[in-house]
Amino acid sequence: MVEPQTTVGDVKGPSLDTLEAILDINYTWGYEETRQQLRNLYTKARRGQWIPEDILPWETEVDLAKPNAPEHILPLYGSSIYANMAEEKRREINIEIFSWTLSQFLHGEQGALLAAAQLVNSVPELDSKLYGSTQVVDEARHVDVYNRYLQDKIGFLYPVNPHLKSLLDLILKDSRWDLKFLGMQIMVEGLALSAFGMIRNYTTEPLLHKLTQYVMQDEARHVAFGVLSLRDYYDSMSEKEVREREDFVYEAAVLMRDRFLYQEVWEKTGLPMKECMEISLNNTGQIMFRQLLFSKIVPAIKKVGLLSNRQRERFHKLNILQYEHWTDPEQEAIFAEVIASPVA
Ligand SMILES: [Fe+2]
Ligand SMILES: [Fe+2]
Repeated sequence: MVEPQTTVGDVKGPSLDTLEAILDINYTWGYEETRQQLRNLYTKARRGQWIPEDILPWETEVDLAKPNAPEHILPLYGSSIYANMAEEKRREINIEIFSWTLSQFLHGEQGALLAAAQLVNSVPELDSKLYGSTQVVDEARHVDVYNRYLQDKIGFLYPVNPHLKSLLDLILKDSRWDLKFLGMQIMVEGLALSAFGMIRNYTTEPLLHKLTQYVMQDEARHVAFGVLSLRDYYDSMSEKEVREREDFVYEAAVLMRDRFLYQEVWEKTGLPMKECMEISLNNTGQIMFRQLLFSKIVPAIKKVGLLSNRQRERFHKLNILQYEHWTDPEQEAIFAEVIASPVA
């Protein structure tokens, strides 16, 4: 059941959704112990903070009729429903998809805010806690900018997609800190980085372009935080424990790969929901889009040591193994910088 959409001027109070989660909270008294690379990342993060009011051109008049994605990746493109649709209805659907997409970014950012706050509590090392605190501020800023864009420039937003919610719940409820890293820093943030990258490369809308550019700089650090924190962690774990991590990654990958089919958009706009979901699932542009979302995740999974042959086979079946050797110059630049600088 989809909740009614929230509109500007809606007088409803905030709707709370409470999860029960067990979290180990770790003090660390070893202030003198330093993981230099994480300390460097912390310094980089503090220097990289930005103020949305000062930096982004909020005065931009956004023309919602202008598409923010190429036509061939629109979920219904190529179907008879799309072919028979009047131009005006196509425009309406595009705006709905735009709002749906940014709304899911917004909800994902809230999930990231909650997960980053959990990490500060539960990670054992001081440098991870210090870095994590900067991520909390980053994610708060991301929630703020997406919310503001949706409210001021689009005018309405969508509730969280149930599959995204399941994924966020999975991450937030697990008591093991490394699974939070895996789920949030590697999987969700990796997917977001790819999605943001596509928007940044395509959109000509100056506010969204700049906003995305700045958010991406932060997100690239967050993925680096995950990789640096987990890189050696699984070396000393038992095979059983490593398999559990691999299963978690696989489960999250399945949730992320073929469940985001704009169900709420079809429902709201009165299109045949099941048929449109089916079309979105099989649309060539959408298949490529969804595969591409894994281009940053698979190399990161490999870097942390969770791409065994068993996992490779499963990734192959999901059609995402081809990204195993992909490198991202922006991500590599961050690694190079934090690994090279000896003193923060
Ligand atoms: Fe974020
Ligand atoms: Fe993030």
